[in-house]
Amino acid sequence: MMRCISPFLLAALLVSGCASNHSAVAPASREAHAISSLWWQFFWVLGIIYILVVATVLICRFKSRRDRANINLPQPADSIPGESKTHRVIAILTGVSVVILLGLLVDDLFASRVLAPKNDPGALNLTVTGHQWWWEIEYGDQDPSKVFQTANEIHIPVGRTISFTLRSPDVIHSLWVPSLHGKKDLVPGHPATLVLRAEKPGIYWGQCAEFCGAQHANMGLLIKAESASDFAVWEDAARKSAVAPMTDQQKHGQQIFLNSTCVMCHAVSGTIAGSHNGPELTHLASRQTIAAGTLPNTRENLALWIQEPQLVKPGARMPGTGLQPNDLADLLDYLQTLK
Ligand code: CUA
Repeated sequence: MMRCISPFLLAALLVSGCASNHSAVAPASREAHAISSLWWQFFWVLGIIYILVVATVLICRFKSRRDRANINLPQPADSIPGESKTHRVIAILTGVSVVILLGLLVDDLFASRVLAPKNDPGALNLTVTGHQWWWEIEYGDQDPSKVFQTANEIHIPVGRTISFTLRSPDVIHSLWVPSLHGKKDLVPGHPATLVLRAEKPGIYWGQCAEFCGAQHANMGLLIKAESASDFAVWEDAARKSAVAPMTDQQKHGQQIFLNSTCVMCHAVSGTIAGSHNGPELTHLASRQTIAAGTLPNTRENLALWIQEPQLVKPGARMPGTGLQPNDLADLLDYLQTLK
């Protein structure tokens, strides 16, 4: 019996153990709630049916063994005892199965209605572009001077509809932030829409959920849901150009940045660096991670990423810089001012 029930118990244990900010059963948006409640309805209904079926099979097996021991003579073929009762039971259970399946179908349709993108004139419009292997994020606005970009970290206000336009210029990626929504593919040439509304503040981790090359596993992101006032403060700061370097080291670091290969791929607003081949760096120092969730954003990790990116993320488009230690230190001083 234990061997039969164990997959059911195992699933329950695994599911309860996964409840964190990176879990489809720890919902923090109306969409994730719809997915989570659909999952739990399927889990309990199908789990109970599984247990009943296994129990019935075991009971029948013991009963038939006992009956066989009690029967001395073979029964005539046209009078099998209990045959009509068996037919009745099969008919009833078939009917019950159909009703249960229809019930689950109705649940599924209700969940789909919650997940369907809706038009909300007050929505915050973001464009998320998947690249090998990082996320480009653009905050749209009707006033073009208010549009700004960031990378790998998305701030959103709680209680407001967020409409994501999903794009990919290279291969198929998939955006998945389990606590906020289900997976949605980013298919080259076919922009998709994903709409969600976070219900409680928090940091929700996400991951590319479609194999997209060697560093697919290192293509993470986070969504920080915060109060409307905190979001307004962040948005205001994110729109500003980078602060000018103050110390001699920071000024020297900026010159290294602007005169090296860094400017071929990165942008820092307020400087001549304006390429968007790689992540926007205007407010790099305010992010929690670097290299799309691969490393915590510390000075040591930044140094490692700048000098030896192929050690951290083999295959990434970022080339090593081979800077002298003094130049690297000044460059790090400068990058750490980009808050
Ligand atoms: Cu992008 Cu996997």
